[in-house]
Amino acid sequence: MAELALEVREVSKRFRIYHQRSTSLKEALVERRRGRYEEFWAVRDISVDVPPGHSLGIIGENGSGKSTLLKCMAGILVQDKGTIVSRGRLASLLEVGAGFHPDFSGRENIYLNGAILGLPRRYINAVLDEIVGFAELEQFIDNPVKTYSSGMYTRLGFSIAVHLDPEILLIDEVLAVGDEAFQRRCMARIRELRSEGRTLVFVTHSLESVRAICDRCLWMDRSRCRMLGEVDAVLAGYRAELRAREEAELAMTEAAVVDSSPGRDGFRITSLGIIGPEGPTSILNTGDQVTISVGYSSPAPLSGAKFAITLLSEGGAPLATVRTADLETADLSLPQEGTVRLVLPGLPLLEGLYRLTVEVADIASGERYKRLDGVQPFRVHSEGRRESGMALLGHSWEFPRVTEATAGR
Ligand SMILES: Nc1ncnc2c1ncn2[C@@H]1O[C@H](COP(=O)(O)OP(=O)(O)O)[C@@H](O)[C@H]1O
Ligand SMILES: [Mg+2]
Repeated sequence: MAELALEVREVSKRFRIYHQRSTSLKEALVERRRGRYEEFWAVRDISVDVPPGHSLGIIGENGSGKSTLLKCMAGILVQDKGTIVSRGRLASLLEVGAGFHPDFSGRENIYLNGAILGLPRRYINAVLDEIVGFAELEQFIDNPVKTYSSGMYTRLGFSIAVHLDPEILLIDEVLAVGDEAFQRRCMARIRELRSEGRTLVFVTHSLESVRAICDRCLWMDRSRCRMLGEVDAVLAGYRAELRAREEAELAMTEAAVVDSSPGRDGFRITSLGIIGPEGPTSILNTGDQVTISVGYSSPAPLSGAKFAITLLSEGGAPLATVRTADLETADLSLPQEGTVRLVLPGLPLLEGLYRLTVEVADIASGERYKRLDGVQPFRVHSEGRRESGMALLGHSWEFPRVTEATAGR
């Protein structure tokens, strides 16, 4: 078997957090000497192998230790326990600006980074224009990098890292910074490097790009490895956890409690529920088939009741109302108790938090039996979709054609 490109064995990294109560520098130094600090293990007992040409994604909540682990891999931090072996020329793109000398120009920093990687000057001469072009910094390349914006830093950092012929490339969250067009070019370049057989370790919040690029995935959770394995399995585990946490948070809100007190004529709404493709939930995806169920009870059978359900934005603005009164069979006759279900075959809402208003009234008099306002909070995810706003519009575009008559005008 070929030697591993990266071998991480039982690695742990500790930080010392000094108490900042001291008011003067002198006091601070004394406290430091007295050793008033707490130890904090930012990375605990991580082991992972990356064979040459493979790509590892690292995901996990903020503060779970992803960047610290990557810095240990890059040799920028030294782990307190365990060993890391890397085989091959390693380039890294870590935090914005890391690895740049602020007083040097962009051009000088390119040579500096190349020298650190042990590349001959003529190699850098040959790729310099490409680096500058990819970073779109032609006009600024001779200015000191301390004058750059964070987007410019990131573009230069990424461009250097991918053009200096790395065998192993470590990338931390770059795609979070910079505009969308640049992000797309980064992804395209990363794919290219992958197909050239480079080894990649990629920290990101974008689960979609992990799926697109990585062979395996490490999920870090509070400094430890929560799961390591096939991308699909790890992403499924991570998504399930995020979802469970979101559900728990929504269930804690006041609006989630159904007011089942009697309304007019003793009518009650006894339950309210949202059913997604996998069962009852408060977390949905755009386009899901969704059923909203309203359980009720009444001292007597209902004749001529009407139900209305409104979808509300997080701010309480009504987005859409659907009514049974609009049906041809509008004069509903219903048993004393039961469940009325509204089925939405494809949820047309985009990313966000939403709520419901439910109203039941008498069709003839219009008198209200019961109304629950702004209840049953639910979250909609629309990962991977490009549309923005709240609602998904079914649509198509039409364009004018270039014809002989219109060409060149
Ligand atoms: N230099 C440092 N000194 C003290 N604590 C740090 C340092 N760097 C990171 N940490 C802490 O270590 C934990 C992990 O941080 P980090 O590796 O940046 O997480 P992630 O990249 O997953 O968001 C966090 O709680 C962070 O505050
Ligand atoms: Mg980080």
